[in-house]
Amino acid sequence: MNVFSGENSIRDFMDPGQLAYLPLVEIPAELNPLIEDRVKIFAKLMTFSALHNVKAVPGFNMIAEADARGELKDVTTIIENSSGNTISAIAVAARLFGVDDIRAIVPDEVSLHKLRMLLFFGIAPIVNHEPVEPDGEDPTSGIYRARELGEQVGWMNPGQYDNEDNPDAHFKWIGNQIWRQTDGGVSVFCASLGTTGTIIGNSRYLKDKNSNIRVVGVMRAPGAYVPGPRTELLLGLVGLEWEPHVDSITQATNPESYAMSMDLSRRGLYVGPSSGLSLVGLLRYLLERKDEGTLDELRNKNGDIVCVFICPDTPMPYFDEYFKYLDESNFPTVTNEHLLLNMPEQTS
Ligand SMILES: Cc1ncc(COP(=O)(O)O)c(C=O)c1O
Repeated sequence: MNVFSGENSIRDFMDPGQLAYLPLVEIPAELNPLIEDRVKIFAKLMTFSALHNVKAVPGFNMIAEADARGELKDVTTIIENSSGNTISAIAVAARLFGVDDIRAIVPDEVSLHKLRMLLFFGIAPIVNHEPVEPDGEDPTSGIYRARELGEQVGWMNPGQYDNEDNPDAHFKWIGNQIWRQTDGGVSVFCASLGTTGTIIGNSRYLKDKNSNIRVVGVMRAPGAYVPGPRTELLLGLVGLEWEPHVDSITQATNPESYAMSMDLSRRGLYVGPSSGLSLVGLLRYLLERKDEGTLDELRNKNGDIVCVFICPDTPMPYFDEYFKYLDESNFPTVTNEHLLLNMPEQTS
């Protein structure tokens, strides 16, 4: 019945193993150019997890597993290099396990909106001047600083970029859900590549069940800025071994990702830019296979091609960005704009 009560109500609600399955919803035909080819595309809505984004899953697991191993015993402070979803999830999970002092290393280019989100969650930001060439071994990088500070007595750095509890969370909970929700018929799994925890964990689970399942990873195109996923260059900072778990890689740009996210949202799938990026990348992969004449190899035993792409979060934290990356033709006009008292420059 999805009711959580008693002294462990919040811990149970945060635990993805106790929450109802996260919805898997087929996208409408008008967004699926391959519908005539019996391609069915499903959005896996991570937005229905406790903190309304994908990071509630690994965030909870990294803390719960550290606690189970006894690693939280004398910890009073947790620090992570993150300016958004991960540290918020870690903060909430950590408080459930008795750690209240949460710090985040944030880049100097962090937006005021994101900084305020951290303060909203009671997280103390430490602003870092990031090196121009990203390198996790550079002592001035945020990843390095978080690791170094985390080594102090009473401190801990979960380290999402090389912590196996990150992909394990997806292996344990989400892969199993997708397998069962598609009745074992999933042909293609697609996710964006950020820390790569999502793609590694789901790929491991699904390929264990059926090694024919194809896994597509989507990167940000060079110069694109979609929060969460990384460019090829930035993926060099990730310590997790993701390459063996991915069969094909595609890319998506900013305008493509933001426009697709808006199209999905306007049709009832309220998902953010990295969800748009993932769907753009998935369609690129499928259309290429159709051109090559290899689409039929993806059919399941019912003759369908069932694809699942991950929707990590909602558009809410990024509303301003949609107006930066999409031109006016994407939005209705405001009547009597001259009467607006507040921030008229932010309307279309
Ligand atoms: C909004 C958003 N999209 C995509 C991702 C990528 O997921 P992962 O880190 O599991 O690769 C993240 C996480 O960093 C995210 O916060």
